[in-house]
Amino acid sequence: MTTTTGTAAVTPSVGTAHTRVEGREKVTGAARYAGEIPFADLAHGWLVVSTIARGRIRAVESAPVEAMPGVLTVLHHGNAPQVDGEYVGLLGKPDPTVTLFQTDRVPFAGWPVALVVAETPEQAREAAEALVVRYDEEPHDVAFSAAHPGARKPEDPSAETEKGDLAAELAAAATVVDAEYTTPEEHHAMMEPHAATARWDGGRLEVVDSNQGSMWVADELAKMFSLDLGSVRVLSEHVGGGFGSKGLRPHQVAAVMATTVLHRPVRVVLTRRQMFSITGYRSPTVQRVRLGADAEGRLSAFGHEALSLTSTVHQFIERSADYGRAMYDADAHHTVNRVVALDVPTPTFVRAPGEAPGSFALESALDELAEKCGLDPIALRARNEPEAGPVSGLPYSTRRVIDCFEEGARRFGWADRDPRPGLRREGRWLLGTGTAAATFPSNAMPSTAAVTAEADGTFTVRITAADIGTGARTALTQIAADALEVEPSRIHMRIADSDFGQAMIAGGSMGTRSWAWAVTSAAKELREQLALGGAIPEQGITARSNTAEAIGALAQKERHSFGAQFAEVAVDTATGEVRVRRMLGIFAAGRIVNPLTARSQLRGGMVWGLSMALHEEAIRDRAFGSHVGPDLAGYHVAAHADVPPIEVGWVDDPDPDDPVGIKGIGEVGIVGAAAAIANAVWHATGVRHRHLPIRPDRVLLAGTAPGGDVDA
Ligand code: MOS
Repeated sequence: MTTTTGTAAVTPSVGTAHTRVEGREKVTGAARYAGEIPFADLAHGWLVVSTIARGRIRAVESAPVEAMPGVLTVLHHGNAPQVDGEYVGLLGKPDPTVTLFQTDRVPFAGWPVALVVAETPEQAREAAEALVVRYDEEPHDVAFSAAHPGARKPEDPSAETEKGDLAAELAAAATVVDAEYTTPEEHHAMMEPHAATARWDGGRLEVVDSNQGSMWVADELAKMFSLDLGSVRVLSEHVGGGFGSKGLRPHQVAAVMATTVLHRPVRVVLTRRQMFSITGYRSPTVQRVRLGADAEGRLSAFGHEALSLTSTVHQFIERSADYGRAMYDADAHHTVNRVVALDVPTPTFVRAPGEAPGSFALESALDELAEKCGLDPIALRARNEPEAGPVSGLPYSTRRVIDCFEEGARRFGWADRDPRPGLRREGRWLLGTGTAAATFPSNAMPSTAAVTAEADGTFTVRITAADIGTGARTALTQIAADALEVEPSRIHMRIADSDFGQAMIAGGSMGTRSWAWAVTSAAKELREQLALGGAIPEQGITARSNTAEAIGALAQKERHSFGAQFAEVAVDTATGEVRVRRMLGIFAAGRIVNPLTARSQLRGGMVWGLSMALHEEAIRDRAFGSHVGPDLAGYHVAAHADVPPIEVGWVDDPDPDDPVGIKGIGEVGIVGAAAAIANAVWHATGVRHRHLPIRPDRVLLAGTAPGGDVDA
């Protein structure tokens, strides 16, 4: 075979619905997840986590446990291999929660203190539960509140932006909103728990994992264990959800330590309970929003102050106050993210970090402002469309948020809405509708890819991408097919192997865009090579790409996806229950590669927004410093019966500077969804709910008198 691409009349695949290329494997159970891939001579590690929230480990009484059936070793701070805890990885210095067993200090409840390894998971678990760890306990502080004396502005200069005189503009404004909103601690709650198997194979460390970036995890492990990157291989074929939680976590490090000590493969799987303390979560937030507007609803004052928490060992900031920096302008514009360090686990990225809680506060406050100004909430937003980035002054690549509202209003039937609250009744139910805007940054990060023309006329693409359930593998197959002008069935898409080289992680809504760029560019290079003619040798012809230079040359712009969220709710005046009756989201989010999986992505984000509005809330016991009910019974996520028909659509919005036109859709779907629901609850009842989740007890206590307010 000599020419293999450019066959006439191949219909482009991008933009058409394509079922998941691995769908059959997944539904038949042939797809193996990290915790179920068989290995000969496999040993099983079980983590033991602290029962105290602060103090020191006095003793790990491992001897009785080592005598238990099947037990191979007990690793803890007294005997574990030393690691480098000072290296700089993708996200800076590692959280000491992952550099396991290097200290006797306990900084929070659920901190990993030991690993018991045994022949079977049952033996390991039994021994782990029998292990006695003695502590010197110290008083702890897990009480998060706006008034906490430890609240501070972090060193990071990007924590705050300020222009104009906020107090003066507020004083001069015709209409002012000044309100406090809170969101609780929320968890990723992805279906597949964290799991990793580590082994030494011919002098190389191999880790079979479930992660959002195999090169990321390989790089962190190499640095931590002082290995060459080439001596580490991380694989992550199928992943049952990540949402920001699946980076380097204690399970991979524990497995590597144990396989190094035992010279046999070791698997560590986390329990759901352990995940609540050692795999990150979204910080609770307290947010004060101050808005001032003139008689026509034009914003003159914009203030957003957010407080989140972090652990005492590592700083993570939930940047809720960033939301307005690209979204709304005013003469006086002030945003600040503050943080307080408590004796709690370190929070982390959770789907739409910053934007998810930030949009709840801001898009609720705008609804309050619209009400006070006597304006339709969509008209208020249209009146406040900025020409350029409010903080950056940069032009937008594209900004079709009002087009989303107009299309959404048409499909939702917004024009028929009576703006007055508390009027629609259906038996004991009060009905209402609400809306909110959505936005999330659109970026691309340097990646490498290789595309091989095989002798049999097929093509193999290799890229260290991750498909964490998003459909990325399928989207990349379609992109490669179009770039090569062949049918998708001729593409073998190989991903999630760190041996394929550096590539962006599945994160920040940047995965598919970044990988698509690299795949497109390698495919272009390959076509140029193939155009020279000649036979394809047995090993194929391979072209490689690295997008660092092209991405580095991108002009500075405000680059974002946008959207408009709509919700209709029914509020039971007898029980306080809120039922969402329907949701609609219209997005302007770049070129949509695969409408089938894209719709699922956006709908999934909206389902989470519903869950955030009404259900999710992790409760920390102040006396013990640990969670109450850290499992999927105690931590409520929306179940199937909670989720109404959800309609998802989009307006045409290709990114003009992206080779494929992609912007990214992983996160924008959750943004604004909780606010749309809270705004609908106000419209139904006349009562503002500024604290999530909107539980039945909060609804009952607040009553349904218009003008009411919920402050607890
Ligand atoms: Mo995400 S929170 O960028 O996985």
